[in-house]
Amino acid sequence: MALSREELIRAVSAQMPAKRWKHTQGVMESAVALAEKYGADPEKADVAAILHDVAKYWPIAEMEAIIRDHNNRLNVELLTHDKQLWHSEVGAFVAERDYGVSDSEIINAIRWHTSGRVGMSLLDKVVCLADYIEPGRDFPGVEHIREQAHRSLEEGLIAGFDSTISLLLSQRRVIYPLTVLSRNDLIAQLKIMEVGS
Ligand SMILES: [Fe+2]
Ligand SMILES: [Fe+2]
Repeated sequence: MALSREELIRAVSAQMPAKRWKHTQGVMESAVALAEKYGADPEKADVAAILHDVAKYWPIAEMEAIIRDHNNRLNVELLTHDKQLWHSEVGAFVAERDYGVSDSEIINAIRWHTSGRVGMSLLDKVVCLADYIEPGRDFPGVEHIREQAHRSLEEGLIAGFDSTISLLLSQRRVIYPLTVLSRNDLIAQLKIMEVGS
């Protein structure tokens, strides 16, 4: 890593309002705790958490330009979906370009922290679930997700994605298909674990 942890924190926190930085600190805390509980690398979880929302407050046009300019590496199709999804893709890109993060596990955990993906890595799961349950989160149903997170990463994430999908359904908003596929894949993973145990 090109920057020290302190330098990274200073640079990333300067790009968002205090409230979002507080959320990021909560995600750092929860991601490290989940990594320790479930056997992921706590240092990688920490770096991915610090950077996960780095692009969240970037101007929409800037995010769109990055995705278009790097369409050989980034998913241009995202531009036809909710803008909320763009910051994950752009965040993963700038983590590498601007902050010298070269570890693909960290980059992927940032990239997939909003939607999940089919075949989520251990670190993907840790960061995505930490984003749902960090101590500052206070939305209807968060306690249920926290309870499930004690059972397993997969149970926690299924509860998290269920809450997102339910909310979108109730608001008659478009559901990003990958979130549904990620949820289904986690259920399949649990079934395989049950058979194996
Ligand atoms: Fe995010
Ligand atoms: Fe977040």
